[in-house]
Amino acid sequence: MSKVVIFDHPLIQHKLSIMRDKKTGCKDFRELLDEIAMLMVYEVTRDLQTEEVEVETPICTTKTKMLAGKPIGIIPILRAGLGMVDGILSLIPNAKVGHIGLYRDPETLNPVEYYCKLPEDAEHRELIVLDPMLATGGSASAAITFIKQRGCNNIRLVNLIAAPEGIERVRAEHPDVDIYVAALDEKLNEHGYIVPGLGDAGDRLFGTK
Ligand code: PRP
Ligand code: URA
Repeated sequence: MSKVVIFDHPLIQHKLSIMRDKKTGCKDFRELLDEIAMLMVYEVTRDLQTEEVEVETPICTTKTKMLAGKPIGIIPILRAGLGMVDGILSLIPNAKVGHIGLYRDPETLNPVEYYCKLPEDAEHRELIVLDPMLATGGSASAAITFIKQRGCNNIRLVNLIAAPEGIERVRAEHPDVDIYVAALDEKLNEHGYIVPGLGDAGDRLFGTK
């Protein structure tokens, strides 16, 4: 079964509390999402492979470690996932970026795909799927299915806030995908919004409502 990591770092919790506040405007919301995504990278990449290399310091020659293994690809789910890209790229600047466009039908809550462009060599990469909100889990699960249909297997999912229903669905449909979330909230409401959540992440990020 996959791993679920819930961050309890005070800096992340503090920043997330400001994001939840409905009085927080677009500019601050965007900056905070960027900062939290950057802080999450540290734990999300903890198990990346390293190899021993020899380095000559000004004092002596020493054996030390550098990243090895598969290169990284990051895949934001449009729109709101875009808000996490720069934070991740600031620590993994060589990562390639793919995009998956999905929106949730407000009636059925089912994801509707409108765009998919992945790096050409995606199947040779360690892929990090980004979306601030994991509500029913429909969007994340569908995005992961598309990516797998392209022959990719090494996938991890990073969300800001998850509902228990979303975690359960992704784990059931993709038991190989580890999930990293800054907070696990209580439940979904009758419209499929996370409670307490932060509202509509895409609208708050881009100021569309
Ligand atoms: C939001 C969010 C997720 C999805 C989560 O996107 O960014 O992609 O809903 O809900 P789910 O887990 O129930 O699928 P939305 O559909 O509002 O599209 P947007 O990012 O374009 O606003
Ligand atoms: N999408 C959002 O942006 N927020 C929610 O609470 C649920 C789905």
